[in-house]
Amino acid sequence: MNLIKLGGSALTIKGSLPRVRRKVLEALAAELSPFQGDLCLVHGGGSFGHPLALAYGLHRGLRGDDGLMGFAEVQRRMRDLNGQVLDALHASGVPAVSVPPAPLVRMRGGELESLSVDPFREALEAGLVPVTFGDVALDAVQGAAICSGDDLMVHLARALRPNLALFVADVEGIVGPGGDVLEVIRREVPDLAWREPAEDVTGGMRAKVQCMLDIARDGSRCLLVSGLVPGRVQAILEGQRVPATEVRWS
Ligand SMILES: Nc1ncnc2c1ncn2[C@@H]1O[C@H](COP(=O)(O)OP(=O)(O)OP(=O)(O)O)[C@@H](O)[C@H]1O
Ligand SMILES: [Mg+2]
Repeated sequence: MNLIKLGGSALTIKGSLPRVRRKVLEALAAELSPFQGDLCLVHGGGSFGHPLALAYGLHRGLRGDDGLMGFAEVQRRMRDLNGQVLDALHASGVPAVSVPPAPLVRMRGGELESLSVDPFREALEAGLVPVTFGDVALDAVQGAAICSGDDLMVHLARALRPNLALFVADVEGIVGPGGDVLEVIRREVPDLAWREPAEDVTGGMRAKVQCMLDIARDGSRCLLVSGLVPGRVQAILEGQRVPATEVRWS
């Protein structure tokens, strides 16, 4: 099966206001459609999740009444984005169903401790395409935390053992020290000057590469590809070689 994360960086326009890249979303839905038979999807938050989660400090927990309202608002926005992702998939004939992560995860001190995967397995067995997403969730230690789409990919890959775990983002791949896209990363997070925003509630690209290494170590082929260049995602699913970064354990 194919496990794919549609990054918030590809689906949305960065900035403080939540905005979808409609053409990109529709193109990705069309590219995924031929592979709907054995497909599980995760999507990120982009401008629907990150700015508000950061403003309320939800990655560090709940703080007073403001924190509670922030938690509720971020959850609402993520469901809005999820609805738009489902609409685009349905328009391409993909029987996508929402599997919100919050009731299925246990968070502890900001870490995703466990994910109940039965709802995903049952949807897949029924021929549906489960779609989950990065979200706010309750946390046993700090009250609230961000359950990132990248961490959901790690837990889903461990349980579902996909042939391919694909991360779709707004870059052509992971850029190395010389400014070129790295074709392969092996065994460890490279020592790069990561061009991250001052603070990212889910750790940005560096944390993503660590997640990709965890997935590769568990045995799935793991790549990062651009969602902004039409055709790249479909080409990878068809087994073609396109510009991308592969993260390997061996
Ligand atoms: N070495 C690097 N190579 C490529 N991108 C990098 C690198 N260092 C930092 N980045 C940044 O990582 C960003 C992608 O990570 P980001 O977390 O924003 O996307 P995402 O995970 O797709 O979105 P979301 O977290 O909303 O799902 C790129 O837009 C780029 O600015
Ligand atoms: Mg991210």
